[in-house]
Order: sequence, then structure tokens, then C-alpha cells
Amino acid sequence: MHEYISQSEEDTLNIARQFAQSLEGDEVVLIYGPLASGKTVFVKGMAMGLGIDENLVSSPTFTIMNIYSGEKLLFHLDLYRAEEKELSLLGIEDFLGMGVLAVEWGEKAEAQPWARGSIKVKIKPGPKTRLIVIER
Ligand SMILES: Nc1ncnc2c1ncn2[C@@H]1O[C@H](COP(=O)(O)OP(=O)(O)OP(=O)(O)O)[C@@H](O)[C@H]1O
Ligand SMILES: [Mg+2]
Repeated sequence: MHEYISQSEEDTLNIARQFAQSLEGDEVVLIYGPLASGKTVFVKGMAMGLGIDENLVSSPTFTIMNIYSGEKLLFHLDLYRAEEKELSLLGIEDFLGMGVLAVEWGEKAEAQPWARGSIKVKIKPGPKTRLIVIER
């Protein structure tokens, strides 16, 4: 388990970039944190670490999933509006292993078979800073 204090958006980008550089390229990363805590910022940082243009990253709230291609593939899932029963219909298993899968609102994916053994990133906002806990 690793803990980081983020004082700014730039800090979160850097923490996520370094984290992503340590990945093989086929991991599932569940991201936890309340509204506007920086989950999408963290995914942008991950994109940078995977050799992907971070400007491609936008919140897929209305599309469920975005796919970004760079040196590696990054699948970006946002489950804020997703219902548990829809999740099994997405066919996540079909592209697992082809790239890194980053999941906002990771708690909603915990029961999925593909989430077993995933890395967990927990963003805990304080009054001024955010604590970022990475469990793998
Ligand atoms: N330390 C920090 N780390 C990340 N973002 C920060 C930080 N401090 C301030 N911010 C701001 O907080 C906001 C985080 O927005 P972001 O969309 O990443 O949150 P989110 O958790 O994905 O929200 P949502 O629940 O809507 O998906 C941005 O506007 C960012 O500039
Ligand atoms: Mg978001």
C-alpha cells in the first residue's frame, strides 16, 4: 500500500503518471472517491504514463466507456450512472488483457469477476489536500 498527499491537480497528475509507468499494461484499476475528488484527473495522469495524449481523456459519464490509444491502450469506464445488471452486458472480459482498464466509481464493479485482484486507488479529499491511497 502506498499513500500520497496531493496538494493540487498537478500533484495528482504526477502521482498517477508515475503509477501508470509501473504497470505492465493489462491491469484493472478501480478508482474510488466522492464527486469531483479527482478521479478523472487521475485517469488523465495515467494516460500520460501510458504514452497517451491526456487531452483525449474526458469523463465518459454519458458514454460509459472511452478507449484511448497511445504506447498502450487505456479503457476508461465511468460507472456513476451504471446499474449493476448492465455491467455484465458490457462484455469487459472480451478486451481484458488488451490494455489497462481504469474504472471510476470502482465500488460498483467490485462484484464483477474481472475486478478480482484489481488495483485499488482511493482518493480521500480533506479540507485542502487529497490523500491518495494505492493498494495492489
Ligand atoms: N489535489 C487535487 N487533485 C485533483 N484534482 C483537484 C485537486 N485539487 C483541486 N482539484 C480539482 O478538482 C476537480 C476534480 O475533477 P474530476 O473531474 O477529476 O473529479 P471526479 O472525481 O472525476 O468527478 P466525478 O465524480 O464527477 O467523476 C478538478 O476541477 C481539479 O482541478
Ligand atoms: Mg470523473
